[in-house]
Amino acid sequence: MPGVIIKSKGNKGEGNMRSIGVLTSGGDSPGMNAAVRAVVRCGIEKGLTVYGIHRGYEGLIDGEIEEMDRNSVGDILQRGGTILKTARSERFKTEEGLKRALTMLDTFGIEGLIVIGGDGSMRGAETISKRGIPVMVLPGTIDNDLGYTDYTIGFDTAVTTVLDAISKLRDTSSSHERTTVIEVMGRHCGDIALYAGLTGGAEYILIPEYPYDINELCKKIVVSTNRGKQHNIIIKAEGVDISSADLAAKIQEKTGRETKVVVLSYLQRGGSPTMRDRMLATLCGAKAVDLLCEGSGSKAIGTTDNHIVAYDLDQALEIKPVFNKEIYDLIGVLGK
Ligand code: F6P
Repeated sequence: MPGVIIKSKGNKGEGNMRSIGVLTSGGDSPGMNAAVRAVVRCGIEKGLTVYGIHRGYEGLIDGEIEEMDRNSVGDILQRGGTILKTARSERFKTEEGLKRALTMLDTFGIEGLIVIGGDGSMRGAETISKRGIPVMVLPGTIDNDLGYTDYTIGFDTAVTTVLDAISKLRDTSSSHERTTVIEVMGRHCGDIALYAGLTGGAEYILIPEYPYDINELCKKIVVSTNRGKQHNIIIKAEGVDISSADLAAKIQEKTGRETKVVVLSYLQRGGSPTMRDRMLATLCGAKAVDLLCEGSGSKAIGTTDNHIVAYDLDQALEIKPVFNKEIYDLIGVLGK
């Protein structure tokens, strides 16, 4: 990711930042720690006081804030989860909660904020930004559901975890000549299923972005079994409108082949981040500090075509994720 592109309507000015805060919010994702480390160390390098805010917006409201130094982010680069802890805050969505959060920022003298989280966290960042505090958002979620960035921090690790699970399940599925339905996370986005489906050799994937055809799925299983296939791997994204248990029951009934369900759930959120997630987290973290110091106004930072990009927050929130039908079709061809 060599270059940096700023997509801005142009509110660049001279920054006089003296102290900043960093928080992680929403579901944790592998690479959040790498981002925190980059923010803290780059901030200190620039002469800033850097505060770590615990438990996301919840901790901001409650003043769970402490100054960080270089050592406080030692030995975390390789760790999953987030040392700052995280939360989904309902209180922050109220005017009262927002006011308390702003008061805390003022009390600690925090002049700029860095938020590492997904779409809900980004909306939270926008409300703070509208009250005059510059906020940088780093895309921290395994879901890869933010349209302004090609990838989110944690997605690559989550897919790698799913691939490991597929390999193991393939062993036992072929020994027993079974079909296995693997349910993956992603909320309303099918990218974990899509990427794991292609690179893990699934026969069929079910995702929220595209309609599934149960007869086509079952026909595929019957035809490939008759051709001598030992197992069938079906990946279902959690956002699809059929439960994995119901799906497996239907497949078993229609194909006459034993069908098991494995829900990978929170396993996908843990683990040491891959090189790609550490790289993305580190480069975005460093860029967030640079932009705050330059007085660039609030931005969402991510990656497009191997470049780090920074969009105005309102612009970023408007960009919808694009479903990659080519990958979906290729899974159909390769998984026959
Ligand atoms: O956004 C990340 C994610 O793991 C989603 O894939 C999933 O739907 C959700 O969070 C689960 O959230 P919680 O941790 O609140 O159960």
